[in-house]
Amino acid sequence: MACMLASVQNYDGVYQGYVTDLAKVYLDSLSADELAQVEVYSCGPHPMLEAVANLAKEYNLPCQVSLEEFMACGVGGCAGCVVEVQTDTGPAMKRVCVDGPIFDATIVF
Ligand code: FES
Repeated sequence: MACMLASVQNYDGVYQGYVTDLAKVYLDSLSADELAQVEVYSCGPHPMLEAVANLAKEYNLPCQVSLEEFMACGVGGCAGCVVEVQTDTGPAMKRVCVDGPIFDATIVF
């Protein structure tokens, strides 16, 4: 496994573009057997997480995202960190501090 960097800041030796663009190049280089072993884990700002989740969905890959929310209590009491997720019975609210911060990408985005 290699470590790859992506940036839109024109750094030498770095892939020029978003990390999801680089990930797509990488995923396209894999064989079907290799692709079947890929799982995606992501942390960062919400727009990037959404782009990563969409990429994972496009390639039918399991994907987990680590959400960041402002937290007042951090122990599940204030509901200041809730996010909407999709469950089998419809939309629900989950507290990032105690129910996460790691969520399956398919229920968040
Ligand atoms: S920070 Fe208070 S419930 Fe999560």
